[in-house]
Amino acid sequence: MKDEIKHAQLNKEKWDKWASSYDSNNWRNKYLRDAQSKLVSYLDVKDNVRFLDLGCGTGWAIGETAKLVGNKGEFYGVDLSEKMIEKAKSNFRGRDNFHFIEASAESIPLNNNFFDIIICTNSFHHYLHPDKVLKEIYRLLKKGGKIYILDPTADSWIIKIIDKIIKLAEPEHVKLYSTKEFRLMFEKAQLKYSIAPQTFQAASKVHIGEK
Ligand SMILES: C[S@@+](CC[C@H](N)C(=O)[O-])C[C@H]1O[C@@H](n2cnc3c(N)ncnc32)[C@H](O)[C@@H]1O
Repeated sequence: MKDEIKHAQLNKEKWDKWASSYDSNNWRNKYLRDAQSKLVSYLDVKDNVRFLDLGCGTGWAIGETAKLVGNKGEFYGVDLSEKMIEKAKSNFRGRDNFHFIEASAESIPLNNNFFDIIICTNSFHHYLHPDKVLKEIYRLLKKGGKIYILDPTADSWIIKIIDKIIKLAEPEHVKLYSTKEFRLMFEKAQLKYSIAPQTFQAASKVHIGEK
């Protein structure tokens, strides 16, 4: 339990610090935007979608998704960082169908069987208990709803080494998973697993689960 509190604290501190500059135009943010943009263009979003971005940061991918359906839908973002959520709220002030919630992905205060689409970009490797998060995702998805997790995927020895280096440099980093590990975790959570055919960025892949 002590480790869990410490881990959450480290994560919050890191992302709270980053929130004020998260929308600025530097190479790191551009890399993250590019990943979000590629994933959003891959989604099959329909009018009146119920959409959730887990670990949403300042909410950029939510705004882009809403544009695809002329803002017709209910759009949710969940993030552990108070400052990211504050920034997201201010970015989308006045949009009644946008809802931003400060919460851990391991325990999300939203209703069962609600969402058509959940996305999670470059956030999953920060989750201390990925099994708990996938259980939450399963609970929140409607039957036939889909989760799309975009994350660097440790299928090669070089990414496995990079994972270990990041772990040493950033204590809140948990783990980059291989495709095999994603498949096993999804199946354990009763999500029907598939993977997007293309690699999205360097080693980032999109792992898809259907309820
Ligand atoms: C690299 S940022 C990615 C943000 C956004 N998804 C993107 O693609 O730009 C990682 C985000 O995950 C959030 N995060 C980390 N651990 C979390 C957790 N346990 N629950 C919810 N959000 C979490 C951080 O606060 C941060 O906003």
